[in-house]
Amino acid sequence: MPENVAGVIALCLSCNQQMLTKSDRLLCSVWKNVGIEFMLQLSFGHKGWETAILDVFRDAFTASEGADEGLVIRALVKDLMATTPEDDLFAYVAFESDTVQGCIFFSRLNYDEDPRRVFLLSPVAVRSDRQKAGIGQKLITFGLKDLRQRRIDFAVTYGDPAYYCKVGFQPISEEIAQPPLPLSQPHGWLGQSLSGSEVTPIAGPSRCVSAFNRPELW
Ligand SMILES: CC(C)(COP(=O)(O)OP(=O)(O)OC[C@H]1O[C@@H](n2cnc3c(N)ncnc32)[C@H](O)[C@@H]1OP(=O)(O)O)[C@@H](O)C(=O)NCCC(=O)NCCS
Repeated sequence: MPENVAGVIALCLSCNQQMLTKSDRLLCSVWKNVGIEFMLQLSFGHKGWETAILDVFRDAFTASEGADEGLVIRALVKDLMATTPEDDLFAYVAFESDTVQGCIFFSRLNYDEDPRRVFLLSPVAVRSDRQKAGIGQKLITFGLKDLRQRRIDFAVTYGDPAYYCKVGFQPISEEIAQPPLPLSQPHGWLGQSLSGSEVTPIAGPSRCVSAFNRPELW
């Protein structure tokens, strides 16, 4: 595990309970004394794990959309990690046995005419041989909880509603939150309030971080 991360929690993959430390052993409420192989660790921050993260994104998107898309998303993530100011990028990483299994990024979406703080969830990837085990949803739920603690007001994403509605996103119109660039698939524009307030339109146009400022990504 990286040493410079904050907010690490460990979940039992079998029962989804948070692991408890007793002496030097990890316990969960269902699988007593489970070994490290059952443990999923969720952490904040990508520093020191860039290469493994790039491999996960390339692998996941190659498996789902082909080798070209795998390389496109790898390049996007490399750019995102290299060029985004620290305060504008939050990464959450899932580890099992010190191996990166999945990763998600939230980057700042600036609405200069509105005081609310908005972050974009994208991209999201789980290693192709570890998908459908709940890792993606656990990572997103963990990230959204951390964003709430950081007083971020609103999260948006751009993807398949069938998946992202599982973690609280709902379709939103461009009147609620203007995307930074024209959307080719407006039905994939999704959002959720993190502040507990009702969703009201966010004023003005938005600006994404530079890695996302490319029309072909939207
Ligand atoms: C999408 C992705 C992150 C999901 O991660 P995961 O850990 O496999 O997902 P979870 O185990 O948390 O959730 C599985 C559920 O989501 C559904 N699901 C997974 N991928 C989906 C997708 N692309 N669209 C719709 N539903 C999807 C599964 O069918 C399953 O549904 P069920 O619980 O009703 O059976 C992963 O499949 C992935 O990395 N895919 C390739 C990259 C990608 O498409 N990323 C998203 C766009 S940025």
